[in-house]
Amino acid sequence: MCRAPRDERTWPIDRCRGIQRATMFISRKAYNAAKTVYYSAFRAFLYVRSAIHCAIEVVSGSRYSRVPPPLLRYKVSESFDIRLFLIVGQRIAESIERELNKAGTSLSRMNSVLDFGCGCGRTIRWLIESFPHTRFCGTDVDTLAIRWCQENLRGSFRTNRATPPLDFANAEFDCVYAISVFTHIDEWHQLQWLAEFRRLLRPGGYLLISLHGTGTMERLSMQEAAALRSQGILFMRSSKLHGIHPEFYHTTIQTKEYVLQTWPAFFEIVSYKELGLGYQDLVLLRRA
Ligand SMILES: C[S@@+](CC[C@H](N)C(=O)[O-])C[C@H]1O[C@@H](n2cnc3c(N)ncnc32)[C@H](O)[C@@H]1O
Repeated sequence: MCRAPRDERTWPIDRCRGIQRATMFISRKAYNAAKTVYYSAFRAFLYVRSAIHCAIEVVSGSRYSRVPPPLLRYKVSESFDIRLFLIVGQRIAESIERELNKAGTSLSRMNSVLDFGCGCGRTIRWLIESFPHTRFCGTDVDTLAIRWCQENLRGSFRTNRATPPLDFANAEFDCVYAISVFTHIDEWHQLQWLAEFRRLLRPGGYLLISLHGTGTMERLSMQEAAALRSQGILFMRSSKLHGIHPEFYHTTIQTKEYVLQTWPAFFEIVSYKELGLGYQDLVLLRRA
């Protein structure tokens, strides 16, 4: 990984010159073929590791109660580690409340909150415990993750399609949050969902979204970095988790400038915190 001090004029291109030089000597075809073989092996091995973890957790009687099975955990945290799954979820939950507190509000004052792309409940499980008087709903395209939430967590959980609408009434929520979801969907899907969140939020309601900002990009090629700089948003396909995640689910990086220019068409921007959520930026928005 090439690391250089950030220079706004040349960054991020200067970061990537090392990778560029290395890959110049390998033909694109050979590189793609090797990647396909590697990804297929990676996916097969992932299922094997998941089965082994499952067996170990069952036989050893995991000391953690009510944690989702390994593959569901992997899909949200790219790790089988139970402690990591729990700690990261708890920290995200704390960050959500902290951001709302800074804006002068709290989940405890809200009637109804939606976790969009809740997965197997890594974040919402903590909020349900901390704010027992608030109604929490979670939705996701992942049917198995939603079924696990329905069977194991308090709150209301539904499966949704890749595009809007969601099956909720206009202005039904005081707050919607989407953690690590816009990091994976393209611009067209993002804009569809922003419009839908505006429909779902009451006037004055809050929307919290995490995204991959420019601080997270370390492996972009020169062409990708240039595309990001000119378009403000870059959607990168990868077949690494093909069949594990849906077809539309890849990686998106976007610049702060893009967000500040585009999203005010839907919401007032309250704050933009670079790397506000570990490797992701955190944007707090408000419905006018
Ligand atoms: C990296 S996981 C994060 C899960 C959860 N937000 C968390 O932080 O633990 C991304 C989640 O977004 C979900 N997702 C992606 N696109 C979606 C869409 N269009 N509608 C609902 N969920 C979606 C995925 O199925 C996955 O569960």
